Amino acid sequence: MSKLPQLTISGIAQAVELSERVHWIGAMDPSLRNFDIILKTANGTTYNAYLVRGSEGVAIVDTVKENFSNDFFERLESVASYDEIKVIVLNHLEPDHTGALPELMRRAPQARVYISQKAQSMLKALLKQDEFDFTSVLTGDKVSLGDRTLEFFHTPYLHWPDTQCTYLQEEQTLFSGDVFGCHFCDARLFNDEVGDFRFSFEYYYAHIMRPFKDYVNKALDLLEPLALINILPAHGPLLRDQPKKYVQRYRELSSSVLQSEIGAGEKTLLIFYISSYGNTRRMALAIYEGAMEIEHVRVSLYDLEGSEVAPFVDLIEGADGIVFGTPTINGDAVKPVWDLLSSLAVINLKTKVGGVFGSYGWTGEGVKMVEDRLRGLKLRVPIPGIRIKLIPTEEEIESCREFGQHLAQELLGLRQPRVIDMADLA
Ligand code: FEO
Repeated sequence: MSKLPQLTISGIAQAVELSERVHWIGAMDPSLRNFDIILKTANGTTYNAYLVRGSEGVAIVDTVKENFSNDFFERLESVASYDEIKVIVLNHLEPDHTGALPELMRRAPQARVYISQKAQSMLKALLKQDEFDFTSVLTGDKVSLGDRTLEFFHTPYLHWPDTQCTYLQEEQTLFSGDVFGCHFCDARLFNDEVGDFRFSFEYYYAHIMRPFKDYVNKALDLLEPLALINILPAHGPLLRDQPKKYVQRYRELSSSVLQSEIGAGEKTLLIFYISSYGNTRRMALAIYEGAMEIEHVRVSLYDLEGSEVAPFVDLIEGADGIVFGTPTINGDAVKPVWDLLSSLAVINLKTKVGGVFGSYGWTGEGVKMVEDRLRGLKLRVPIPGIRIKLIPTEEEIESCREFGQHLAQELLGLRQPRVIDMADLA
């Protein structure tokens, strides 16, 4: 049976030895059920912080959420004194890792703070003061502790713009911040001893990292070449068993599953609709037919009544264009459309083209509302949406076909910019 690390002695929190020179000095938060409002956790989380001892001083890597400061300081004091601390590294400035920082700076005023360049303004805002010593670092910068060296890798957006990872060269150990972490609290600490945390690892990736897949891939380009004995993240189990497996999993999760299905030079357009009396459906079919007339665009048509939301989110992530068809009922777009739209925050939509259409009975606000939402999600909406009162006429069906053609051309960069006649604006 696994032996629990000795986390306390007579109620005093103790550091956990990871190697002769590296200790875990973090805190456990088993009661947490909701992190940052959006993430659930069934058994809490850990705020992992670390102490590295070199021949010429001690470094602290990250701190903990403020209300867990006592555990952090007790653990720190169990293996070092404050006057030994030469370096404080902050991989990420979110308060779950910097809550104990102001007090640590008071107790170790001689220590120098190392942060990424992007973190400077955040640190000033956090400390509410402009004057303090810190060093901002870039990828490849290093700080020496004598016989131990810390090297920095800027990994922006994983999870905030400031994020960096720190590599302890002599021990082939990566302090990875939020990267490779998860919200999972288990006092056995190490990935080869804790309970099954695979779900938490993937769930955390899906909510924290997935919106920034491009940045994940760039970070992996930096981190994959590193020799790794340990990955020590800021949350969840410490990855000492097969650490590269987690790096590889991030690469898999950040690669497009559809890439091989779509031909080179081909664009994808997805049309989602829902229809109460068949009128929005007629519009959808006409847009579908129109778009299919354009070569090199792979067009798909989906009735929102026929699927759960999650598979559509995956499809949208890999698509170039997305079109939504919604009736207007009681002055609003309908719930299945909003349900899908509200699930898209976990993916990057910035380079995609959007479009909206729908039939209505009285006022037809739904189309405009969804257009605004698409713009809010950073999609480009180059063609005004089409609203048709009740049953579309042949002429209106033709305008839907053209709408589909124009959207498909837009994806290929073939559409001519619209020339606005000033007389039309009068
Ligand atoms: Fe664990 Fe983004 O903070």
